[in-house]
Amino acid sequence: MIVNRPGRVRATIQVPPDKSISHRSLIFNAIASGSAVVERILESEDVRSTAACLAALGADIDWPEGSATARVSGSGMHSLFESDSVLDCGNSGTSMRLLLGLLAGQPLFSVVTGDASLRSRPMGRVITPLRQLGASIQARKGGTLAPIAITGGLLKGIEYASPVASAQVKSAIALAGLYADGETTVVEPEKSRDHTERMLSAMGANLRRDGNRITVAATARLEPLSLRVPGDISSAAPWLVLGACHPDAEILLEGVNTNETRTGLLDILAAMGASVERLEERLSGGEPVADLLVRTSRLKGATVSGSLVPRAIDELPLVALLGCFAEGETVVRDAQELVVKESNRVETTVDLLTKMGARIEARADGFVVHGPTPLHGARLDGRGDHRVGMLAAIAGALADGETRIDNDAVGVSYPGFWEDLARAATGGMIKA
Ligand code: S3P
Repeated sequence: MIVNRPGRVRATIQVPPDKSISHRSLIFNAIASGSAVVERILESEDVRSTAACLAALGADIDWPEGSATARVSGSGMHSLFESDSVLDCGNSGTSMRLLLGLLAGQPLFSVVTGDASLRSRPMGRVITPLRQLGASIQARKGGTLAPIAITGGLLKGIEYASPVASAQVKSAIALAGLYADGETTVVEPEKSRDHTERMLSAMGANLRRDGNRITVAATARLEPLSLRVPGDISSAAPWLVLGACHPDAEILLEGVNTNETRTGLLDILAAMGASVERLEERLSGGEPVADLLVRTSRLKGATVSGSLVPRAIDELPLVALLGCFAEGETVVRDAQELVVKESNRVETTVDLLTKMGARIEARADGFVVHGPTPLHGARLDGRGDHRVGMLAAIAGALADGETRIDNDAVGVSYPGFWEDLARAATGGMIKA
């Protein structure tokens, strides 16, 4: 793709449906007792991977190609069958980790795998607790990497202190906990996104929360959960950053999920002095939703650390870009999780912005950006990581000269991204 800086940015964008909630709506409803309708489900490569794996396990999912509505007809907690082939999670860590939690409770033999990126991402973080619960799991590299073979069965509840703040780990253990004898508790070092807790509670699961601690008890039956999926704040993020940094911008983002476990970027933008208004605050599908209006802003540097990190984890590459337009130093620390995302996002973010003229240094747990620095168009590689592909696009739309982007992978979470970018810029600015 080729991107140039537009003179002016004006747009109203209906932000695509939330990826995390879309995955969960399929997985949880697949083991519910009855039919659920999921409206505005995200049709992206990652969510299709989850649907395909569940279908291979015998789940009844009616989700025609190109449709924003999926019907899931669950036949109970023990209704899945053994698949006669491997379960391919593609690029999706959420699919793999949550499915492993589900499979731990099934007396079935399954093999899960994914693309080269996913096969290099750490799976020991779910394999260790799922083995403690009683699942039998073999995996490459000493039980840490996919492909993974799992045979579930009789589980017994555990108390597990997760070394990482990860909603995928928490959700995998919670799913297995539904099938385990007694209670299963997960404690996280910081609070991660809580869609699993909200959705499973709404479905009647026996689940308690206490700060960073959740406890689930054996659950014999889940009620189906029909919902309309709210907009994904992680897909609103590129526009929030474009709007704040571009010299003549005003962008209205409609229907964004403002669940406070996800709104770290809004807090970071506020600390940096950005103008973002929350309008029409409402509830949708058990989640808070608002329209967000972002305008050209004067930014100052900020430090992102601690509990803010999991609340903005997928947006941190874009925070580095904000730092290029902010006066002073922008620091991201405590974010060593960035290294094990779809790419090593410390490295890919620093490489990409350095190529464009940014003053940015990598750290083991984040990066430091010195701003402001004008960015220049460059030839960029998204490295097959959707968040890096979108970072490249927005950086290109803020740089002088032309930016060329290969391997953008935006279809993983935001299939209409390039069309929305073209619309945001009056006069059209991108070419395939
Ligand atoms: C997700 C959790 C986060 C996030 C990912 C989606 C989820 O990962 O980065 O994009 O849906 O649970 P971790 O759980 O590894 O932090």
